[in-house]
Amino acid sequence: MKGFVPTPDFVVDRMVERLFRDRRPSSRSTILDPGCGEGAFVRGILRWRDRNGGPLPRIVGVESDSRRRRRAEREFGGIPEIQIRNADFLADPCDESFDFVVGNPPYVSILELSETEKQLYRTRFSTARGRFDLYLLFFERALRLLNDGGRLVFITPEKFLYVDAASPLRSLLSRFDVEEIDLVDETIFEPLLTYPTVTTVSRRQYSGRTKVIRRNGAIKYIALCGDGQSWMPLIAGESQSRPDSTLGDFCRRVSAGVATGADAVFVLRNEKIDDSLKPFAYPTIAGRELGDGNPRLAAQCSMLVPYSGDGRLIHESKLGSLGFYLRQEGIAQKLVARTCVRRKPWYAFHETPPLRDILNPKILCKDIVASPRFWIDRSGRIVPRHSVYYIVPRNPAVVDDLCEFLNSDLSTAWLRANCQRAAGDFLRLQSRILSRLPIPAEIAARLNSGTDTFQAISENKALDQASRLGASGALDLIR
Ligand SMILES: C[S@@+](CC[C@H](N)C(=O)[O-])C[C@H]1O[C@@H](n2cnc3c(N)ncnc32)[C@H](O)[C@@H]1O
Repeated sequence: MKGFVPTPDFVVDRMVERLFRDRRPSSRSTILDPGCGEGAFVRGILRWRDRNGGPLPRIVGVESDSRRRRRAEREFGGIPEIQIRNADFLADPCDESFDFVVGNPPYVSILELSETEKQLYRTRFSTARGRFDLYLLFFERALRLLNDGGRLVFITPEKFLYVDAASPLRSLLSRFDVEEIDLVDETIFEPLLTYPTVTTVSRRQYSGRTKVIRRNGAIKYIALCGDGQSWMPLIAGESQSRPDSTLGDFCRRVSAGVATGADAVFVLRNEKIDDSLKPFAYPTIAGRELGDGNPRLAAQCSMLVPYSGDGRLIHESKLGSLGFYLRQEGIAQKLVARTCVRRKPWYAFHETPPLRDILNPKILCKDIVASPRFWIDRSGRIVPRHSVYYIVPRNPAVVDDLCEFLNSDLSTAWLRANCQRAAGDFLRLQSRILSRLPIPAEIAARLNSGTDTFQAISENKALDQASRLGASGALDLIR
């Protein structure tokens, strides 16, 4: 029953037109529709023949779901050229090859597969790597079954163009002639949001030219890279060559915020922090607080941090009132129950917070966003939570310039083209991607000029001093 999403007729017709463009099928031609469901593409091929005349080629549909296979068989059973097989396209043997492959393979994430299935696919398919999806494997198997000079047209999610897990598929595809990538209308499979793409590939040497049709209708021609890297920068309009400088070059850290492993214990609303805990309290922000309603980054909560300003865990005997708070009944049990403390003291955070870097002027952004937006923590006081990414420029004096650039259309367009997608076309702003953001030469020059390393050094000194004073002292010193 996995992954049934029927293809609307108008999309099927467009894909079948593409399949036979400048290559009319003959009576000896063979066509494969893997994961044929109830036969949407078989019907589409029959409509094409009605419009264009000519003999009916041999058509093989493969469907693992017997109910859908029976429905398709009932419809096409009387046509000798059409065979609907009840088989598993990824596991069952197939001893013939095909001149054409067309279809809408199942979109089934690795998370929905059994351990046995995962094992089987990993041993059989070079595309079953990382967090793979079944449609990647359908691509691989179908390409293997394609005759020389044959053509494949698939509609799939667009994710294979850029996700890391699809890197082996991109390498494989680049050994074929990827003729066209059509980023079709995202409403096709409503209410599902799949960002569909129709890919047309021929089994022959790559011509070095792929036609790309963007969702706004714009057409361009690109040469795909064959090393498995994301194709999105090329599709969105950038060259694949490494830019002169990237965000990572100007930053001492681009990271996800602090994971305490027990925010319910360590993060309290400001009014609940009594004076004795204040030396350990840092203002903290979660992703959901980064919104238009909070333009000045007012933190409603504080994080109690059992680490000194240089990032070292404070010895239990020196925790004072924080130790008293953490040892309370109900709180200590929660901390001890965390798996992360099997190999570290019971009151440690899930990850050691790099406070030396964090407590600097920095830029913050939410981890999953509809549209990227960046905020400045000019005071350097905020300890971001795990749902926030923080960017610490090497030179604190450029934090405004850098933030302005990050909020620019140029940066937004690049992030849109390069970030992984979460549900609802939201972008995941991972540190790996953020660090690769190209910085245009004129911005780089601005970031390089006025470098005030002195300031960075003196701030570090301030932090060293502050670490001896505790958290609130640190905040006063760097304000
Ligand atoms: C996205 S649906 C598309 C159905 C049909 N081609 C259409 O476009 O309307 C994918 C189909 O693949 C079938 N399927 C899933 N895994 C399969 C497998 N391993 N072998 C054969 N078919 C499979 C599902 O049952 C489903 O009918």
